Amino acid sequence: MAKRYKWGILAPGKMSAKFSRGLKLLENAEIYAVGSRNIERARHFASEFGCTKAYGSYEELASDSEVDVIYVASPHSHHFEHVMLCLGNNKAVICEKAFALNSREAETMIKEARSRKVFLMEALWPPFQPLYRKATAIARSGETGKVIHLNAHFSFQPPFDPLDRKFNLSLGGGSLLDIGIYPVIDALWFMGVPDEIIAKAGFSPTGSEDSINIIFSYADGRMANLYSSFRTAGGIGCTVMCERGNIIFSRARDMSQQLDIEIPGRDPDHFSLLPEGMGYQYEAEEVMLCLDEGRNESDVVPLSFSLDLMRTLDRIRGAAGISFPGRD
Ligand SMILES: NC(=O)c1ccc[n+]([C@@H]2O[C@H](COP(=O)([O-])OP(=O)(O)OC[C@H]3O[C@@H](n4cnc5c(N)ncnc54)[C@H](OP(=O)(O)O)[C@@H]3O)[C@@H](O)[C@H]2O)c1
Repeated sequence: MAKRYKWGILAPGKMSAKFSRGLKLLENAEIYAVGSRNIERARHFASEFGCTKAYGSYEELASDSEVDVIYVASPHSHHFEHVMLCLGNNKAVICEKAFALNSREAETMIKEARSRKVFLMEALWPPFQPLYRKATAIARSGETGKVIHLNAHFSFQPPFDPLDRKFNLSLGGGSLLDIGIYPVIDALWFMGVPDEIIAKAGFSPTGSEDSINIIFSYADGRMANLYSSFRTAGGIGCTVMCERGNIIFSRARDMSQQLDIEIPGRDPDHFSLLPEGMGYQYEAEEVMLCLDEGRNESDVVPLSFSLDLMRTLDRIRGAAGISFPGRD
């Protein structure tokens, strides 16, 4: 019989609630414990999701010997500290994006997980979604030929709040690490690490970046245009333009996904999907599959991909003049 994993939730904010709704769909997952900086918040989350244990500190959660795996969903400014805490207690970890604030932190986290032989994965939503997997399979099959150009964007208009993690520099604020990471993932996923990066950013009153345009270029002439912003409500989309057709992926606010395949001379194919649990259960399933098989790394989102992603985000920040004081 399959092992039932006892999950610990570190930082019960908005994302932890969404992820836990995904966990609820999985028979081999139990939302066993939650750790918050505030015991009342932990108790509230525990009563909503049926956790056995509620802790008023992350340290207590990480040291609970019953916990098999911890989901880290604090602001990205704190991922390094919290992932290292969990790894230090030899817990398997899935950590929200952005994996860390910079690639040096990501390198240290990966080194720590590997030296302890403990599972670590970044919680990247797209690669586990059924339609993104279909798009990937089509692009890799060669059916549409080589990817020549990619155009991807993610924008929405959150209310400006200088204390909110999206605008607060000390919490890693900015559109790039929050939502711009998705167009960057698309480009790395379908085209690889670029040879050159050009980027131009706009800034909010707190000094956090709130809008960014990025160009990736490759030595063989291929290019990608990427955009993220908190100033516009342009939604989420990615068009992969290939030698023989286009692969077009989009996601609506309700997390429904659309995939269109346009190949000249053929009727276009259209696929649409609204996954249960907003699709977060797929990455949790992957974690437990890896643990079942004794693997410390996912081959869907390997740590090398997360490191390439963090290094690319560092390069984009360098090109656009985005820094986090005291952390670069
Ligand atoms: N994969 C996705 O689709 C997706 C979507 C949204 C967000 N995310 C990621 O998930 C992470 C959390 O985002 P969120 O929207 O859930 O944020 P949030 O609602 O602000 O929650 C973050 C939680 O982190 C804890 N925390 C620890 N130190 C903190 C500090 N110094 N300041 C503020 N909060 C602190 C707080 O919980 P306690 O104080 O109770 O411990 C807070 O509830 C981010 O890295 C974000 O990029 C991913």
